Amino acid sequence: MKLFIDTANIEDIRQASQWGVISGVTTNPSLIAKEGRKLEDVIKEITTLVDGPISAEVDESTSEVMVAQAKELVKIHKNIVIKLPMTPDGIKACSELTSLGIKTNVTLVFSVPQALMACEAGATYISPFMGRVDDFGESGADLIERIMVMINNYGYESQVIAASIRNLAHVEQASLAGADIATIPFAVLKKMFCHPLTDAGLDIFAKAKKQ
Ligand code: G3P
Repeated sequence: MKLFIDTANIEDIRQASQWGVISGVTTNPSLIAKEGRKLEDVIKEITTLVDGPISAEVDESTSEVMVAQAKELVKIHKNIVIKLPMTPDGIKACSELTSLGIKTNVTLVFSVPQALMACEAGATYISPFMGRVDDFGESGADLIERIMVMINNYGYESQVIAASIRNLAHVEQASLAGADIATIPFAVLKKMFCHPLTDAGLDIFAKAKKQ
């Protein structure tokens, strides 16, 4: 499973990219707003740090407006992926952008029928939100599993990005369900290094060296 970082914070991306395991970046309007900067400026800077797919979300609007915005965003860099909302206009824009050869990421996906729509529209990526599904009282892990079955049944080329990852259990569940990618906040990425037995093992080795 490929690991993307889910943030618009340049310092976090810089640090995480040094580990050599981050192959893409996803942003969304909330993450961009948190940085207090313009979407275009943040995305441009991210392209200098990570050489992989970088999702930039268009404003929810008509398909015409979203396609026009997408055409401007892809001028920034060849790695830009257009993130579109799971709405009729978003799916229409996805179909159009697919026919123009522009990569897309359909976001805010919470069900198999939504994922199926996105696959049929030729989405490059589909982003089901694990954490928010859990918050809603359903299982994010189960959603990823069911979407993977649907995609494998028909051999769709759309790749699943497990999103809204809140903890290590989500990372594990996404990988066991066969998600292609997990997009992970920096705080959770850092936790992926950790296990109490690793710390205990390091202590044992350090003490042994002193004897
Ligand atoms: O990738 C989508 C993600 O950023 C949403 O996460 O934690 O706001 O549900 P969250």
